[in-house]
Amino acid sequence: MNTTTPRNTLWQLFVLLAIGLFAAPAVATTFDPDLICTLIVNGTKINDPRACDKWIQCINDLPVNGSCAEGLFYDRESEVCLPSADVDCVSSDPCAATSNGFTADPYTCNGYYYCKNGTGTRGECNSGLNYNPSTEACIRDYPCTDKLNPDSYCNILPDGVFIKDTWNCDGWQMCWQAELVNGTCPDGYYFSASLGKCDYPQNVQCAFTEAPPQTVLPDVCPKAGTFISDNETCNGYYYCQNTTQGQMVLEHGVCSDGRFFSAANGGACVPRTDIRCDYNRCVNMGNTTIQLANLSDDGCTGFAICQNGTIIAEADCPNGEYFDELTQLCTTQVISFVACALSSESTESTTEKLIDEEISTTAAT
Ligand SMILES: *[C@@H]1O[C@H](CO)[C@@H](O)[C@H](O)[C@H]1NC(C)=O
Ligand SMILES: *[C@@H]1O[C@H](CO)[C@@H](O)[C@H](O)[C@H]1NC(C)=O
Ligand SMILES: *[C@@H]1O[C@H](CO)[C@@H](O)[C@H](O)[C@H]1NC(C)=O
Ligand SMILES: *[C@@H]1O[C@H](CO)[C@@H](O)[C@H](O)[C@H]1NC(C)=O
Ligand SMILES: *[C@@H]1O[C@H](CO)[C@@H](O)[C@H](O)[C@H]1NC(C)=O
Ligand SMILES: *[C@@H]1O[C@H](CO)[C@@H](O)[C@H](O)[C@H]1NC(C)=O
Ligand SMILES: *[C@@H]1O[C@H](CO)[C@@H](O)[C@H](O)[C@H]1NC(C)=O
Ligand SMILES: *[C@@H]1O[C@H](CO)[C@@H](O)[C@H](O)[C@H]1NC(C)=O
Ligand SMILES: *[C@@H]1O[C@H](CO)[C@@H](O)[C@H](O)[C@H]1NC(C)=O
Repeated sequence: MNTTTPRNTLWQLFVLLAIGLFAAPAVATTFDPDLICTLIVNGTKINDPRACDKWIQCINDLPVNGSCAEGLFYDRESEVCLPSADVDCVSSDPCAATSNGFTADPYTCNGYYYCKNGTGTRGECNSGLNYNPSTEACIRDYPCTDKLNPDSYCNILPDGVFIKDTWNCDGWQMCWQAELVNGTCPDGYYFSASLGKCDYPQNVQCAFTEAPPQTVLPDVCPKAGTFISDNETCNGYYYCQNTTQGQMVLEHGVCSDGRFFSAANGGACVPRTDIRCDYNRCVNMGNTTIQLANLSDDGCTGFAICQNGTIIAEADCPNGEYFDELTQLCTTQVISFVACALSSESTESTTEKLIDEEISTTAAT
């Protein structure tokens, strides 16, 4: 089953909470009729993947339940109820089609359910074996490559229905021969869910502020559930999420003011003075008045002049003095923040120590 030990998960959660990093909202992979009904044309009938004999009609952006008569299953393609033997039902409820007997786990290749009166008990084939639904046996190397996700659009919607893209104002998707097709409107048009076609932007309500999740190769993230730098800013990071399809999806976030991202220990937002970062250190500084920021790798003697988040000039303190970002002044006192220390000094140990301190402070309160 799940290989993450509870201790590890708890520890990670604790670190995230202690440091003020939060996981971005989960990518919607489970069936959400309330959302789907805002993305498709009024009156569309869809399959309810939680049952074989149920369907949902979207009326005025809201789902309305419907169900088939005894012995019939809903067929998403013809949009009517048919004898259950004529419908290939892929449901998120493993016992939906077989209320008594063995049936495949809809989400994995090696899992199966024993259903009794519609309630299932899960079992798993031994390592290296997959469940073969036709023989009801666990078979070595039984092919299980393109398992249809019960919650995917193409198991729910009829072919040819336009679905508004949830991440782009001008994007749409459609199932065609059970494959998902993506498209965008011509330049200057937005996709209207209620009309099911492209329209002038002034006629379409669309206010997506979040960037779309980015799918990346698995080696970009060390593992799912960690945070990595966005490699563009000092305070920006990505949260690495594993989808049920086994892809890695990145969600962008930024540290709160005064903190920079550190990739050590799975990722954390730490005070900006403790992080050496060669991207723009003026980020989030100088919004109202000019502010001064440390420069990296100069032995803490120089500073940047920040206005509205960008560097407008750089300067050095006079007479070999040190710059103190906290007081915004040059001083004769020796300053050696990790942020600006010469590169021979290590940053790693300080960051780790900092995380420990954050945890103990939080634990004490
Ligand atoms: C949506 O469809 C329902 C029934 O088909 C209809 O009564 C309703 O007026 C339609 N709503 C809009 C906004 O067209
Ligand atoms: C529709 O059916 C689903 C499950 O089949 C149920 O969870 C939901 O509450 C129903 N909605 C209404 C409005 O009855
Ligand atoms: C099966 O379930 C139905 C409805 O949930 C119930 O009425 C019936 O008694 C159950 N039968 C058995 C054998 O448990
Ligand atoms: C269509 O877009 C979805 C979501 O953005 C993506 O996961 C999928 O790979 C795309 N499919 C194609 C064929 O481009
Ligand atoms: C940023 O750079 C690091 C180190 O080169 C790399 O491991 C990471 O995947 C990069 N992040 C992104 C979002 O590409
Ligand atoms: C991602 O998820 C898939 C399926 O859910 C799993 O097989 C795989 O091991 C996961 N990968 C990581 C890095 O967690
Ligand atoms: C570098 O930045 C940190 C954090 O803002 C600050 O505390 C420190 O004073 C700065 N270093 C110098 C030399 O100003
Ligand atoms: C400065 O402005 C940026 C962009 O408007 C904002 O995100 C940031 O929170 C502001 N920082 C401060 C310290 O006000
Ligand atoms: C900085 O931003 C403020 C508010 O957005 C603006 O009024 C001001 O002109 C900007 N200053 C510069 C130099 O861009």
